[in-house]
Amino acid sequence: MKIAILGAGNVGAALASAWIRSGHQIVFGARDAASPKTASAAARLGARVAAVPTAAAECDIVVLATPWDGTRAAIESCGSLAGKTVIDCTNPLKSDLSGLAVGTENSGGELVAGWAKGASVFKCFNQTGAENMADAARYPTRPVMFVAGDDAARKPAVLQLARDAGFEALDAGPLSAARVLEPLAMLWIHLAYRCGMGRDFAFALTRPR
Ligand SMILES: NC(=O)c1ccc[n+]([C@@H]2O[C@H](COP(=O)([O-])OP(=O)(O)OC[C@H]3O[C@@H](n4cnc5c(N)ncnc54)[C@H](OP(=O)(O)O)[C@@H]3O)[C@@H](O)[C@H]2O)c1
Repeated sequence: MKIAILGAGNVGAALASAWIRSGHQIVFGARDAASPKTASAAARLGARVAAVPTAAAECDIVVLATPWDGTRAAIESCGSLAGKTVIDCTNPLKSDLSGLAVGTENSGGELVAGWAKGASVFKCFNQTGAENMADAARYPTRPVMFVAGDDAARKPAVLQLARDAGFEALDAGPLSAARVLEPLAMLWIHLAYRCGMGRDFAFALTRPR
C-alpha cells in the first residue's frame, strides 16, 4: 500500500520503518519538503518526502503523526481528505504532558473526524511508545493495538496495518472509543514517566485457555 505519513518524528519514523519492512511504500508529508532533517530521516528509512498536499493526494491512507497542537493545521493543509482513510495516532496531550486536553465526552479522534471532512477516521497507534511501533517483535508476546473507527468496510485494512507493524490488532468498535483509547495512552505515559517504568514495555492481551 502507498501510505502518506504527516510527521516524520518519533511515531512517523517508527511506523514508516515497520511498514517498509512489510512492503508498503511511504511518503512523508512535510510542512517543509526541503528540510534536510526530514530528507535524511526519509532516506535512512527508504521513504520519500513531499509537500503535505502532494503526499495526501497521492495516497488513499493518510496517517496523522503530528503533535496535537499542530494536528488541525496539518489536516487543513492537506486540502480535501474526502474519501481517504485517515489514521489518527495523536494524543490530545496538555503541553506539560500532565493529562489530556480533551476527554470523557469527546476525544481527539472525534475532533479529527470533524476537521477531516468526508474521510474515514480511525484511532490507532496512539496507545504505546514509538519504539514499540518500530519493533513490536522484541516482545515475547505480541503487544496489542486497538483500532477504533466507524467505517466497517475500511477497518480490516487498518487492522492489517497494525498486524503489519507486529501488533495483535483488535477492533475496539466505533470512533467514539477514542474516548477510552486516549486515556489508555495516558496510562502508558503515566507508567513510563511517573511510575518510573521507562519506555521499554507494552500492553498485551491474554485470554483464558
Ligand atoms: N512519541 C511517542 O512515543 C508517541 C506514541 C504514541 C502517540 N504519540 C502521539 O503521536 C504524535 C506525534 O508524536 P511524535 O513523538 O512523533 O512527535 P515529534 O517527534 O515531535 O514529531 C512530530 C512531527 O510532526 C511534524 N509536524 C508538525 N506540524 C505539522 C504540520 N502542520 N504538517 C506536517 N507535519 C507537521 C513535525 O515536523 P516539523 O519538522 O515540521 O516540525 C514532526 O516531524 C503526537 O500527537 C503524540 O501525542 C506519540
